[in-house]
Amino acid sequence: MTGPARRTTLIGERTQTLKAVPFFTQLSDRELDVVRAVSVEKNYPRSAVVLTEGEMGDSLYMIQTGKVKVFIGDEDGREIILKILGPGSFFGEMSMIDKQPRSASVTTLETSTFLVLQHNAFEKCVEQAPRIAQMVMQVLAQRVREADRKIGTLAMMDVYGRVASTLLELAVNDNGKMIVGEKLSQQDLANMVGASREMVNRILKDLAERGFISVESKSITIINHELPPSL
Ligand code: CMP
Repeated sequence: MTGPARRTTLIGERTQTLKAVPFFTQLSDRELDVVRAVSVEKNYPRSAVVLTEGEMGDSLYMIQTGKVKVFIGDEDGREIILKILGPGSFFGEMSMIDKQPRSASVTTLETSTFLVLQHNAFEKCVEQAPRIAQMVMQVLAQRVREADRKIGTLAMMDVYGRVASTLLELAVNDNGKMIVGEKLSQQDLANMVGASREMVNRILKDLAERGFISVESKSITIINHELPPSL
């Protein structure tokens, strides 16, 4: 097979790959083809910088495979992790929409593949498949809700409670077990709750001794979902 026929088959294959990703599952084959036609696929190795806080940019990144962390930093190089995103999530939509500098930095936690849409390409997508704009708005609303919840957690809970609620938020069901994935270090967890790694280490030990969690070398299992909000 050569030329246009081969290209059509390739697009078809990629559309099928996309269909396995949760966000894209909601789109029809036609809508997925629209996204595919105007986007560019980009691959990044682990620990690569994708976006830098404060820089200009107008591209939206959809995660096909891999995982990224979204974080903001201070002058001393400390980072606060806002969110870990995986397949089906997207990032970079804020600068794409309002043309302001990037609100946060994004780096890969593992080898990742993205579909990248520039502002004009996104507008084309929306013209041909308006539901895509609706879906982006839905995710933005979810993120604001989540951010509101986090502000409440930060204001009302001590570090102990913040670690507990972050573990619950990160846990995914793996064959009936609630597991916090292997790619997250104690330093990452500390950066998510705004505490030191030592403090997080002490809290994890305490939760494990009290039988709420078990800490393995690369993951944490939640044994009892009623994690205590304080010591
Ligand atoms: P943008 O500002 O273009 O670049 C950084 C991106 O990080 C931003 O778009 C969002 O996609 C993402 N981001 C910023 N804050 C959050 C958050 N609280 N939760 C999830 N993603 C975020």
